[in-house]
Amino acid sequence: MPHLVLDRISIHYDGHPAVERASIDVAGDDFVVLVGRSGCGKTSLLNVAAGLVTPVRGTATINGRPISAPGSDRAVVFQNDALFPWLTARENVAFALRLRGIRPAERARRADELLALVKLADAGDKHIWELSGGMRQRVGLARALAAEPQFLLLDEPLGALDALTRERMQTTLLDLWTASHAGVLMVTHGIEEALVLATRIVVLAPGPGRVVRTFEPDFSRRYAAGEAIRAIKADPAFATARGELTDAIFEGEAA
Ligand SMILES: Nc1ncnc2c1ncn2[C@@H]1O[C@H](COP(=O)(O)OP(=O)(O)O)[C@@H](O)[C@H]1O
Ligand SMILES: [Mg+2]
Repeated sequence: MPHLVLDRISIHYDGHPAVERASIDVAGDDFVVLVGRSGCGKTSLLNVAAGLVTPVRGTATINGRPISAPGSDRAVVFQNDALFPWLTARENVAFALRLRGIRPAERARRADELLALVKLADAGDKHIWELSGGMRQRVGLARALAAEPQFLLLDEPLGALDALTRERMQTTLLDLWTASHAGVLMVTHGIEEALVLATRIVVLAPGPGRVVRTFEPDFSRRYAAGEAIRAIKADPAFATARGELTDAIFEGEAA
């Protein structure tokens, strides 16, 4: 099984420590979510996994090989990801397929499959500027999946969406995770979002950034096994987990 490992990673910027000895392990069927207050190093750690930031200490590997640059085994989606506004949704996804050397005749068919996977089956002909924020983010995910990555790296991918759209996108993400067989490493500010999505939650604290707790909730696996998301959120165990996670995030914060 694919395996992404950040082992005792320390990150400095201009000689100042931003992250100290953080370890994060993502297996190919994991959905790992990083949470923590602003500035605790979530984006920095995701960027190490992406091959965009080099740690001063520690090792980052994918399937045992050192990560030293971006690669097609990892696809990254940021909060406001740049799509080509003058192209249609289908053309945006097909562009990623072209980069992979997929034949033109095959591209449109495969792009439509990917759009269907993100529940945009009818939007292939729409231009990006015609789509809502949530739909654009779905196109971004379809484009990321076009690379058939082993790992999806997501930095607050739902952060710019309104609450209702965001809630719907959470189940879309879970469906994608199940269908794509990609491991996920995702950053979020949302406490409920972390609980709904994660097989493992890694809580970071700032000053410098470090791992303080991990949780292994079972809510996303319950959803994958067929339980309704509303029923899961109404479970008293969900409220208990929310309280514990909130405490872990704000522990040690000056009042
Ligand atoms: N490119 C950079 N140059 C200098 N400092 C940075 C840079 N990126 C992040 N930092 C600093 O590193 C710390 C962690 O930042 P970041 O990883 O963005 O945290 P988070 O995503 O959890 O908010 C912060 O103190 C931030 O100011
Ligand atoms: Mg960040």
